[in-house]
Amino acid sequence: MPISVHEATGTFHLYNNDLSYIFALVEGYPFQLYYGARVPDEEDFSYLVTECWMPSSVGASAECELVSFEHLSGEYPFVGADDMRPPALDVRTASGCNVLNLVYRGHTVERGKPALEGLPATYVEDPSEADTLTLTLTDDVTGLAVDLVYTVFAHEPVIARSARIRNTGTAALTVETALSGTFCPGDDRFELVELAGSWSRERHEVRTPLRPGAQGVYSLRGHSSHQFNPFLALVRPETTEETGEAYGFSLVYSGNHRMLVDVDAYGTTRVTAGINPEGFSWPLAPGEAFQTPEVLGVYSADGLGAMSRALHRVFRSRLSRGAWRDRPRPILINNWEATYFDFTEDKLVEVARVAADLGIELFVLDDGWFTNRNDDTAGLGDWEVDYAKLPHGLGGLAERINGLGMDFGLWIEPEMVSPGTRVWAEHPEWVLHAPGQPLRPSRHQYVLDLSNPAVVDYLTDRLSAVIGSANISYIKWDMNRSFADVFSQTAGAERQGSVRHAFILGVYELYRRLGERFPQILFESCAGGGGRFDPGMLFYAPQAWTSDDTDAVERLRIQWGTSLAYPLSSMGSHVSAVPNHQVFRQTPLKMRADVAYFGTFGYELDATAFAAEEREAVRAQVAFMKRYRGLIQFGEFYRLRSPFAGRGNECAWMVVGEGVREAIVAYYRVLQEVNAGRRQVRLAGLDPEARYAVREQGVPEGEAELYRRSVSGAELMRIGLNLTDESCGQNFSGRGDFISRIFVLERV
Ligand code: GLA
Repeated sequence: MPISVHEATGTFHLYNNDLSYIFALVEGYPFQLYYGARVPDEEDFSYLVTECWMPSSVGASAECELVSFEHLSGEYPFVGADDMRPPALDVRTASGCNVLNLVYRGHTVERGKPALEGLPATYVEDPSEADTLTLTLTDDVTGLAVDLVYTVFAHEPVIARSARIRNTGTAALTVETALSGTFCPGDDRFELVELAGSWSRERHEVRTPLRPGAQGVYSLRGHSSHQFNPFLALVRPETTEETGEAYGFSLVYSGNHRMLVDVDAYGTTRVTAGINPEGFSWPLAPGEAFQTPEVLGVYSADGLGAMSRALHRVFRSRLSRGAWRDRPRPILINNWEATYFDFTEDKLVEVARVAADLGIELFVLDDGWFTNRNDDTAGLGDWEVDYAKLPHGLGGLAERINGLGMDFGLWIEPEMVSPGTRVWAEHPEWVLHAPGQPLRPSRHQYVLDLSNPAVVDYLTDRLSAVIGSANISYIKWDMNRSFADVFSQTAGAERQGSVRHAFILGVYELYRRLGERFPQILFESCAGGGGRFDPGMLFYAPQAWTSDDTDAVERLRIQWGTSLAYPLSSMGSHVSAVPNHQVFRQTPLKMRADVAYFGTFGYELDATAFAAEEREAVRAQVAFMKRYRGLIQFGEFYRLRSPFAGRGNECAWMVVGEGVREAIVAYYRVLQEVNAGRRQVRLAGLDPEARYAVREQGVPEGEAELYRRSVSGAELMRIGLNLTDESCGQNFSGRGDFISRIFVLERV
């Protein structure tokens, strides 16, 4: 059992081979004593309890003035205790009082991991994979009960936390703040790593030293956002990709979030994570319960890379679900950048015909297939096929696509509505809008009130009819705006603070229903590119559109940053045309593919426009990806050279397959350097004792061998992969800008 409870000392120790998480009851209150690398289990860790009077602190109670919440860290800091930092729990009574006194009532330990009602969460397939502790705290005055749920995975350095808030009293309560959990990684000698950005430059890695006070990431946009991903890491200043401590935190949630790192005056760092309390409240009648989302804590003693790989494994196989979870993903072609809204059935089939000939497996029809959708000003919400564009309906088009030997996929944007639609005319009350206030557009569209179950029912029926009308094997589920006028016209006054969270629950419910009705469909989530690329979505859709920016250079940073938390199997990555539609850059077809391989892979262009030699290049790219996608999408990913380091001119990463028998290494150089000299990239994850044949992809037979002999893993990891090309005085392999090279390593 990786959970040991020492009743005599009130000590709880959750551990596995990699980590320890220890808390203890002091005067009935649970305080977090340690979270970090594994330590041996002991009966007593009470020396970690600070028991001395410290000026300006408040005692936990009259009986124990020397113990203060400010100097210890409560497992679930609540308002009313003397913690003095942003709380995890704030609950108000009808009289306006929010002072609580939550004390330990009991606990249970069970094998396995229970599901979270109505919410996405990690899971186990066998009870032996994890143990779960539920700690119950109660407040006698209000009848409030809190179940703190902790799961420790047996074979991953991961702890999952969540909380269930129950009203066991007789009077109504209102939850104003209910976070998922807190983690205290000890001192304050850390740097904060976050994934920040905006549309088309999502999830750039940003690393800054911690300072006293609160810092962190949040969203108030209604979705997890392009701006701040619900992920952060604390690393030591000396931590690298391969060495040093890294604590990762990931919130399994797709709505307004907040992840705060609080550094207090005494050098203590505390991470709190959960639903953003801003604009949130949830009425709790007697007998009702509120379930928070789950937050994951990942501990790595071996750098950011090991932290990421643990998250990748968990997200890939213990968060994502369904028929596609473990399957290499189809190579697709999407018509968005090929045609935008301007297409006919014949044009689509022409694109598909060329693509099918090149080995592409799935044709995806993007935006524009439904009535009144000739630009982005109208059409969302009714979900009726536009027979002017598709005279034989979706079914007829799908048949023609299937006839080419390809699968057929479709774009939808369920949560949005455009003016002038039938659904708006019939149900104006289904649109989020505060009466009398301006209705604020974004991309000319508005938000349906998915906190209203009737809207979820409507969308379930409408979209089921659409999906059922054709042989559809893939759905791209888009969501293209942030929320502004958040007022539900059907919820009562006391429910308005619940609308944002209830909306996300509605989205999850719609995903659940459509996923159950169409279990063979591969869902890809999307939100104006990567505006909702989060673990909550991965529970329902195993892949997500990483960014609308498909430029190969921009994608280096976007995919590098995204990989801090998310596996390659989840990252939608396509080759698009040049000049690129977002940044107008011209990069070689080779580099565009060499970047897009590290994800789900596909094309987003008009295949009929390929020149003859481009067709042959694409045919070879598709064949390469088919050969190696299992390895790339399900192998272990190592980041080697950061596009955020130095001038950001280089980037390298690699994936190592099962049994360390095969690996793929990618190296990218954005601009030609002058007189650059030798160049090596140290590899990672190989077997130092094994020998590997190193072959460069796309290089003619006879020139592809990089070395005249096999090379040991030790050499490749300690000396590095040799990228110096003797035949080229200025620099290695190929001259000019936008150089990319792919190497296949095979154990000999
Ligand atoms: C969003 C998506 C794009 C495309 C368009 C269609 O921007 O991110 O990939 O589907 O919508 O309107």
